[in-house]
Amino acid sequence: MYCGREAYAKLCRRLTLMTRIKTFSWILCLFLICVYPRLSAADYSKFSHATPKHQAACNTCHKPPTKDWTKVSSFPDIADYPDHDACVSCHRPQFFKGAKPPICSVCHSKTSPRDDVRFAFRNPATKLQFNIEFPHDKHQDVIAQLRFAHRPQGYYNCTICHESRTPTFKAAPKNHASCFNCHWKSQEPVAANCNGCHKLAPTPFVLTDSPKRISSKFIHEGGGEKKQHIAECTTCHINITKAASLRGLKPDVPITACTECHNKDGLRQDLSKELLAIDKNRAFVCVYCHETSVGSLDPPGSHYRIAERPPLKRKDIK
Ligand code: HEC
Ligand code: HEC
Ligand code: HEC
Ligand code: HEC
Ligand code: HEC
Ligand code: HEC
Ligand code: HEC
Ligand code: HEC
Ligand code: HEC
Repeated sequence: MYCGREAYAKLCRRLTLMTRIKTFSWILCLFLICVYPRLSAADYSKFSHATPKHQAACNTCHKPPTKDWTKVSSFPDIADYPDHDACVSCHRPQFFKGAKPPICSVCHSKTSPRDDVRFAFRNPATKLQFNIEFPHDKHQDVIAQLRFAHRPQGYYNCTICHESRTPTFKAAPKNHASCFNCHWKSQEPVAANCNGCHKLAPTPFVLTDSPKRISSKFIHEGGGEKKQHIAECTTCHINITKAASLRGLKPDVPITACTECHNKDGLRQDLSKELLAIDKNRAFVCVYCHETSVGSLDPPGSHYRIAERPPLKRKDIK
């Protein structure tokens, strides 16, 4: 009896082992059938920084300044793609695949063993993978020291980074010209530390020229014949010098920055006039400062406070 039970147990163990091996080989087969082709079918014409093996230190691939930077930039810059060395250690098979390996088109506009023409760097046709890190607060003192060095009109320090894109809109930095005179070899983040300024975005995105506005009618270089809107930037952007990050940063201009001129007794009454128009017609749209999408909403409390009136909702007006 005892022996029999032993043998039975042995058989059981072998059976379980066999099923385990079987399950294992099944999983392996399934993996080979379903998963492996997907891995090897990666699209080698598009490079992603999010791929785990591509997350080595930035300067294993990007080595500033790039060769021939003088051709495209007035200062030492990262003006070109990484060299072949940065890839072949892992991608030998993809580099020597067929007559026109797809991987070449990550950088080259023409694929041939003799042609080295490349897309512009950064390729305008591809989405961006990084957000910028820029703490306005930490730069106030250093930028102020540039006061008289940079421009004759001195006090608009912000313009070293935010030039006029049009009379209405201010631009934001598009390249390293506004960073690298300070951040090169010694001031962190140094040029080779791309990661100090570029942070991998959750998903690739298309760069927009400007953030979405609330006061879309405002013209930076406007304000009548005397161009009264031209003033020290921080008189309107009052919180920017305290901003530690760009995440969620908005132009953030309070209406009090406007109403000393646009809503003053004896002067203009642009806001009060529009508030009164709503009293008479609750469907009235305020278009002096806003686009219809904003001007047809309820005026916020900030607007009624300026006019020294209690806040009202359109639906409560008869
Ligand atoms: C394995 C090599 C490799 C590494 C490591 C690498 N890059 Fe790149 N990077 C590339 C290639 C190739 C391109 C050009 C393809 C493209 O534009 O996506 C590129 C393009 C870029 C661009 C321009 C395109 C864009 O998305 O704005 C930026 C910025 C950039 N890299 C920043 C970084 C930063 C920051 C790091 C470190 C966190 C880094 N790279 C690490 C290979 C690499
Ligand atoms: C440390 C190894 C390593 C290095 C270095 C490396 N890659 Fe990759 N790359 C991989 C791995 C792993 C994958 C995932 C797919 C695969 O197994 O081929 C991949 C995938 C890719 C893909 C497919 C899309 C993607 O990003 O997942 C492209 C394109 C690519 N690499 C281009 C490059 C280029 C160009 C360089 C050099 C600038 C480079 N790689 C450097 C390991 C590496
Ligand atoms: C990560 C970007 C990148 C990829 C991918 C890439 N190249 Fe290049 N290639 C470069 C750069 C940068 C140079 C310039 C190197 C220099 O001048 O030192 C170059 C130079 C060349 C040259 C000129 C001769 C030489 O070797 O310097 C040829 C030819 C060339 N590449 C062909 C190819 C082909 C074919 C492929 C695909 C198998 C390929 N490249 C993939 C970036 C790339
Ligand atoms: C050294 C460069 C630099 C300086 C100097 C600088 N900024 Fe910026 N600022 C930036 C960058 C980079 C962004 C982010 C732009 C983006 O998101 O595209 C930004 C964003 C902004 C924004 C938010 C709108 C937007 O485009 O996202 C405002 C408003 C702004 N800055 C105002 C100012 C003002 C006012 C000053 C002067 C006190 C100033 N900045 C100084 C680099 C700078
Ligand atoms: C009289 C007030 C005022 C002054 C002075 C002012 N701005 Fe603005 N700025 C605004 C308003 C209003 C907006 C739009 C805000 C909104 O609608 O959300 C704006 C938007 C911006 C934006 C976002 C891009 C755009 O144009 O929509 C940037 C960047 C900016 N300002 C930078 C500056 C800089 C740099 C200066 C100084 C040279 C400056 N501003 C001076 C009121 C002002
Ligand atoms: C006039 C010189 C100057 C310019 C121009 C400048 N920076 Fe800076 N930056 C500094 C200094 C100095 C510090 C250190 C400030 C501190 O720690 O108080 C700094 C700090 C930083 C930090 C924070 C580093 C940390 O450890 O927290 C980032 C990120 C940064 N700069 C990004 C940028 C970017 C992006 C640009 C261009 C859009 C730029 N800077 C332009 C001088 C400059
Ligand atoms: C001191 C901050 C800082 C460092 C360090 C830095 N960048 Fe940038 N970079 C910026 C800013 C700011 C922009 C302009 C905003 C944008 O385009 O996203 C920019 C733009 C770029 C562009 C587009 C430029 C153009 O002319 O189209 C490329 C490509 C780029 N960076 C690559 C890199 C790479 C690669 C590294 C590391 C070798 C690096 N950057 C290091 C701040 C920095
Ligand atoms: C002189 C210019 C001016 C006039 C006139 C004006 N606004 Fe505004 N409005 C602003 C400014 C600046 C802001 C941003 C600061 C704030 O919220 O108070 C704003 C903010 C708003 C917002 C909040 C939008 C958001 O996304 O946070 C609404 C809604 C709005 N206004 C509706 C109105 C209505 C309705 C009227 C007509 C009675 C009106 N505004 C008249 C300048 C104006
Ligand atoms: C220093 C005074 C002053 C300040 C502050 C001011 N404005 Fe003006 N603004 C004017 C004058 C003067 C005009 C010309 C009015 C006219 O000719 O009818 C004007 C005109 C405008 C116009 C009509 C288009 C144009 O530019 O001619 C809009 C819209 C406007 N302002 C919005 C604003 C907003 C929004 C703010 C606050 C962020 C603001 N203004 C702050 C003085 C000012």
